[in-house]
Amino acid sequence: MMRKQLVLVTYLCAIASSGLLLAQSSKQNSGVQTQPFGSRDGRPVNVYTLTNSHRVEVRAMNYGGIILSIRVPDRKGQLADVVLGHEKMEGYIPNPPYFGAIVGRYANRIANGTFTLDGKTYTLPKNDGPNTLHGGLTRTFDKVVWDAEPLKGKTGVAFSYLSKDGEEGFPGNLKVKVTYTLTDSNELVIDYEATTDKSTPINVSQHSYFNLKGEGNGEILDHEILINADRFTPVDKTLIPTGELRPVKGTPFDFTTSTKIGARIDDNYEQLVLGHGYDHNWVLNRKDKDTGLVLAARVYEPTTGRVLEVSTTQPGVQFYTGNFLDGTITGKQGHVYKRRYGLCLETQHFPDSPNHPDFPSTILKPGEKFEQKTVFKFSAK
Ligand code: GLA
Repeated sequence: MMRKQLVLVTYLCAIASSGLLLAQSSKQNSGVQTQPFGSRDGRPVNVYTLTNSHRVEVRAMNYGGIILSIRVPDRKGQLADVVLGHEKMEGYIPNPPYFGAIVGRYANRIANGTFTLDGKTYTLPKNDGPNTLHGGLTRTFDKVVWDAEPLKGKTGVAFSYLSKDGEEGFPGNLKVKVTYTLTDSNELVIDYEATTDKSTPINVSQHSYFNLKGEGNGEILDHEILINADRFTPVDKTLIPTGELRPVKGTPFDFTTSTKIGARIDDNYEQLVLGHGYDHNWVLNRKDKDTGLVLAARVYEPTTGRVLEVSTTQPGVQFYTGNFLDGTITGKQGHVYKRRYGLCLETQHFPDSPNHPDFPSTILKPGEKFEQKTVFKFSAK
């Protein structure tokens, strides 16, 4: 009798613990995992690993909200990491190309580091010749530790940051939240939210560098891209928009049908010479007053079949072909990142909007809520 009971108890325990193991392993196969990754400014930095049921995996850390890796299958199901970056947190300090980072308070450039709002002139630190790029110098969104919270009931993580009144010269206490969610349709959904207690310009973006062959696997010139835009914003020699919305038709900026990135990149067209390649804002096609999600761009890599489709609620996208990468940065797996080894599709408001009253406004006022969404969808064909 005693022996029978003992056997039964052992049996029940075994069932219970195997059930537990199962629950644990399924948690690891799909969902969010949190692991310590280092510390910065005396605060812990964690890496959040999002995994879906198709083995797609996105890793991000709360330092700079940086996306560390995105592993997606090719047409044969072979996984590769398709974003440039580093293995360790320390690799991102400093991070001159803004690999994987959230950029703000004002993504892209503000001319001469100055703007006037409600009759007051504001001066920002200049970090790009005469201009301010990606929010300034020190406490910019890519260089601070964000609060982080894994989402409940979804495969995602929310990063929050309070950018204090006067930080990097901008007015108002700005509360920002950026959420990364991975869906079972292989979409990485990025939601941006913000509120302020004083009027301020805001333009937040994501600065991942993609190479759909896999990071470190050569140039992106053989990728094909479609950009859903009939116009772009030409720039001056410091890459500030001149104010013109120029039709792409008949220019090397026409990607309204899918075209190899390298086909015209070195043409002797003034705008390409100024940008050292593509480093421009395209004006996305959308119907008047429509602020919903529209297709911004579709990238196809012929050898692996990988496709990246970018949709957004934003009015523009900065298509940047990694022209300033120069082989001085060694990234993951010892890969040397040379010129044009990655491409960025930074969905955004137009650069220097605070100084262009006829561009869509970037001013967020107290009582208003800033909300934008961008979706990176991965597939293979
Ligand atoms: C943006 C800018 C580029 C460059 C990169 C970062 O894409 O438009 O000119 O500064 O960021 O290197």
